Formats: sequence, C-alpha cells, structure tokens
Amino acid sequence: MEFIVDAQNIRKSVKSKNKNQPDIKILRDVNFQATAGEFVSILGPSGSGKTTLLRCISGLTRPTSGQVTIAGKSLGTSSERQLARLRRTTISYIFQSYNLLPALPAYDNIVLPLRLSHQKINRHDVKKLMDDFNFQAALSQYPAELSGGEQQKVAIARALMMHAQVIFADEPTGALDSLSRQLIFSKLRELTKFGVCVVMVTHDIEQASQTDRSLILRDGRLVQEFTHPSEQTLLEAMHLAEKVSS
Ligand SMILES: Nc1ncnc2c1ncn2[C@@H]1O[C@H](COP(=O)(O)OP(=O)(O)OP(=O)(O)O)[C@@H](O)[C@H]1O
Ligand SMILES: [Mg+2]
Repeated sequence: MEFIVDAQNIRKSVKSKNKNQPDIKILRDVNFQATAGEFVSILGPSGSGKTTLLRCISGLTRPTSGQVTIAGKSLGTSSERQLARLRRTTISYIFQSYNLLPALPAYDNIVLPLRLSHQKINRHDVKKLMDDFNFQAALSQYPAELSGGEQQKVAIARALMMHAQVIFADEPTGALDSLSRQLIFSKLRELTKFGVCVVMVTHDIEQASQTDRSLILRDGRLVQEFTHPSEQTLLEAMHLAEKVSS
C-alpha cells in the first residue's frame, strides 16, 4: 500500500518551564498513515495533542523524534527551503486559529498563497467557492470586520485554492453554524473523490462518523482506530478517552 502520509514513531517533547521537572511528553510514539483519496478524522479530549500531531505530520513542526514522509518526500532530511516548497505545492493546512493576515481584505487573504507561488488567479473561482460556502460578507472586508465563522470560511478557502494533494484541517468547522458545517464538510468529501487526502481534527462526532476512518488520541497516544464508525461507537470511545484522561 502506497501512503501519501506516512509518519512513524512520532514523539514530541517540550522543555518544562520548571527546570527541575522532566520534559513534557506531548506525543508518545504515534504511527499514522493515510492514502490518497482517504478522509481521516482525529478525535480526542482537549489537550490530548491533536494540534501538535497535525503540525508534526504536516511538516509545520519538527517532531522530537520519528520520521514523516509526504508524497514520497522525507521531511526529516528536507531543508527548511524544501519543506517550504512542499508546503506550497503539495500540502494545505487549515489552522484552528485561522491565521489570517489582519492587514489584508478577505479576498487577498484567500489568494495570497497563489500570489506567493506565482499562480494564476481567477476571481470568478474565488467568488464561486465563497458562494458555495454561503459566505455572506463582502470579500473586501478585513478579518477584524468578519465574524468568527466568516473568518473560518476565508481560512478554508485559502487552503483549498492551492489544489493540494493533502489537506490538514484543524477543527475546520468549529466556529460554524450547522448549515455551513455541512457545506464545508461536503466540499472536503468531494475533494477526496478526486484523490485528495484529508486529515481532519474534529470534536464533531457526527462529522467524524461520515469519514473513512477515525482515530482517537488520548494523552499523546493513538489509542483506538475505527473504519467507517457509527456515531454511537465514537461517542462511547470518546466518553472512555475523556474519563481516562481526567
Ligand atoms: N509549545 C508548547 N509548549 C508547552 N506545552 C505545549 C506546547 N504545545 C502544546 N503544549 C501542550 O501539549 C498538550 C497538547 O496540546 P495540543 O494543542 O496539541 O492539544 P489539542 O488536542 O489540539 O487540544 P484542543 O482540543 O484544545 O485544541 C497541551 O497540554 C498543551 O498545553
Ligand atoms: Mg487543538
């Protein structure tokens, strides 16, 4: 089986603020693989390490140890320049905290990655995508003038404009109403039909139950994996993970 994302034995530790304390282990020996066209969801209690895992397996953060390969490229042996190139051409990342540039209007935020990689910009495509997302504000508005949900749609559109092979999405629908959640989810699902791999962190069990595979993270470890799980199965798994962590 050819994996588009292949992460082996990922560990991430950070120094404790208190010098006498040992390092804090955020991720402990995580293995993660995904194939082209697969939609994988990652669930887990708050603080279990989901964002850290997504950052490590997407090349945004270097793990303390372990290997990550994306589309055949080993991230550990890549230079910062090569990593930046991979991020521009192969990977898109939807941030939990949006990461929009406050000085740019919505439209310019969306097309920024295209501009940076000297790609052609089709204004109509941007407008169409935002209409599909039921974006009600004007594309000339600045992030500070947008609601949280509208900012989230801008951040998602920015990631989708790049036509990446792998999309990492950190709670991409957390700030959205249920109609918008469904629209975004359908869009991601549609992309997987064209061979895009989507790795999504979510707290939304209903959405996770519509992905191909769900992984449960607890205290920095992947503890359970389900293929096409039912909502009930995931609810029970999450209850267990939350109980054990607390
Ligand atoms: N740079 C860092 N320095 C110290 N601790 C960190 C750092 N990054 C993450 N952590 C800690 O690691 C743990 C996991 O954080 P992470 O953001 O990955 O969790 P999460 O599962 O995404 O949580 P949430 O559901 O709230 O988004 C948390 O306890 C967090 O405080
Ligand atoms: Mg997080």
